[in-house]
Amino acid sequence: MPQLYLQEYAKNLAGRRVCIACREGILRDHFSEIVVDIKFLMRMNVATSLFHNLPKRFANQKLLTELEKKLPTTNLVRIAPELDFYEAVLSHPDSMDKLIFLERRYLMDRQGKKINALTTGRVLESLADFGDLIGNVNFKDAMKRICAKIEAGACDRVHILPAGKDTIKHELFTVEGSGTMIANNFIEEFRQVQTDEEVAIVSRILTSYKRAGFLKPRSKEYLSRNRGSFFVTAIDGIIVGCVEQKVIDEQTVELGALAISTRFLKQRVGVYTVNAFIRAMLAQGYRRFISLTGNPRLQALFRQLDFDEKSPSEYSRRQSESPGVPMFYKAVGENGAAPSKP
Ligand SMILES: CC(C)(COP(=O)(O)OP(=O)(O)OC[C@H]1O[C@@H](n2cnc3c(N)ncnc32)[C@H](O)[C@@H]1OP(=O)(O)O)[C@@H](O)C(=O)NCCC(=O)NCCS
Repeated sequence: MPQLYLQEYAKNLAGRRVCIACREGILRDHFSEIVVDIKFLMRMNVATSLFHNLPKRFANQKLLTELEKKLPTTNLVRIAPELDFYEAVLSHPDSMDKLIFLERRYLMDRQGKKINALTTGRVLESLADFGDLIGNVNFKDAMKRICAKIEAGACDRVHILPAGKDTIKHELFTVEGSGTMIANNFIEEFRQVQTDEEVAIVSRILTSYKRAGFLKPRSKEYLSRNRGSFFVTAIDGIIVGCVEQKVIDEQTVELGALAISTRFLKQRVGVYTVNAFIRAMLAQGYRRFISLTGNPRLQALFRQLDFDEKSPSEYSRRQSESPGVPMFYKAVGENGAAPSKP
């Protein structure tokens, strides 16, 4: 069961409008689940709009009336069924901070794996990959239009979610999300952990990798007690990755507990986090960095950032605490360039 972080994520939605777009068939099939999700947003004081294309047939009167009754503060926008739904939604003049398309499925890559987050550049580059994996055969065109809308600066975030129970709630209020987010202007920020809810999010990210076995378990109490040593990368104010500062000696610091939320894997957030950590530590006067990891992905990342796989003798005590786990080492000179090799 995904964990909700209401306060933390609501802060980010305050004063914004979330627009939900849902075609007739999907709205019919998931009517009550969608209404419940939108009512939840209303309770969280989020302004909402619902775009749909229910025809004004007699048989639909009940649904149309129910929408009005159950969602009194939602801006209901009916798109004429004869229009192209995506084009009509995307060209609508209403302001849209977030636009959610409820579909049958999230976006998947060729291997059938969920795509968590994408930039428009990546979408346009790889449109060929999405092809018929998406239920709606017109989706390629829709994707092009979505990208054009984002690139024109008319919408910050577009989400593509499978319609169903709690999918909007989980997309907007959990670390993992439930669908695919498309955006360009991710604003990254690196800082120390602050609130209790942030401690809980870090704990969530770390425990999500428990099974992979590369990370030493850290209890919530440990995280809470040592919060001064935990740094996070936040995107749009939402924590997506963490790293622990472990002081070894007066010039050396270890990067521990490096983890990026599954939603943002392979988006170079790991690289950003390591580089931002190094910058923050240089500012504190550290010059040498070590990290011990058996995770081949992290090993590749360290090599890419000019860490050497070696275990200098002055760190033999630290190495003996994790026998057999490769150590990665990097030293940065006074001017931030040439490393001093031990
Ligand atoms: C290791 C981890 C932090 C990488 O984070 P990330 O944000 O996905 O990494 P990035 O997108 O910044 O990747 C940068 C580089 O890492 C390496 N890398 C990342 N994913 C990889 C993969 N699936 N296979 C091989 N190399 C990979 C590549 O060198 C990559 O460079 P490229 O983009 O030019 O190919 C992330 O996978 C993670 O959180 N893992 C689980 C936690 C964990 O095990 N931590 C280690 C504790 S010891």
